[in-house]
Amino acid sequence: MTLRPLELQDAEVIAAWATDREFCREADWTADLTFTEYRRFHQNLIQSPPPELVRLGAIHEGLLVGYVDLHGDEPQRRELGFVIGERGRWGRGLGRLAGAACLAYGFDQLGLRVIWAEALDANQRSVHLLQRLGMAETGRGGRGVFLDRPTYYRRFVITAKDWASGRTQ
Ligand SMILES: CC(C)(COP(=O)(O)OP(=O)(O)OC[C@H]1O[C@@H](n2cnc3c(N)ncnc32)[C@H](O)[C@@H]1OP(=O)(O)O)[C@@H](O)C(=O)NCCC(=O)NCCS
Repeated sequence: MTLRPLELQDAEVIAAWATDREFCREADWTADLTFTEYRRFHQNLIQSPPPELVRLGAIHEGLLVGYVDLHGDEPQRRELGFVIGERGRWGRGLGRLAGAACLAYGFDQLGLRVIWAEALDANQRSVHLLQRLGMAETGRGGRGVFLDRPTYYRRFVITAKDWASGRTQ
């Protein structure tokens, strides 16, 4: 798994993921947009990302299989986010590899000290992924809804020091 900056033509691939309604439900993407609207939305984000968003494409076997985010305006602390596109790719470890590559990028390239994340309790893939990255659970966030079920956010954090010591184990 490698990461690279997103390019304009990647918007086409990302918009195609959104044609799967079930993917949209799980990822909490609106299902109301057309392919063209999704493509335009992502083209705009790729061309003019907000200053607080670092978004990188996750590349596996030469294909864009997802993206990872480091979000926030604090100089040394950002929030991790991730998506693996196409449900058929889920459950093969790609999310974990993309998440690990993103932590490495955040700590090694951006010099962050802390990366945090939150996942809905009912989104077990996401919760497991954060646990497998070695992130420590710090508590409960606000309420949310996952696949029409009321649930709540669980918060996780990892420091540069913990990340580095996990690598040498
Ligand atoms: C969350 C997401 C990135 C996971 O991607 P993935 O490629 O399936 O991730 P992995 O294959 O690395 O699996 C992650 C964990 O989920 C577990 N898992 C797989 N299928 C599962 C299922 N049906 N139910 C519960 N857990 C499951 C895996 O076993 C793994 O945990 P483990 O390492 O403890 O065994 C992907 O489902 C996705 O893009 N979802 C939509 C967007 C989203 O929810 N993003 C997170 C917002 S914070």
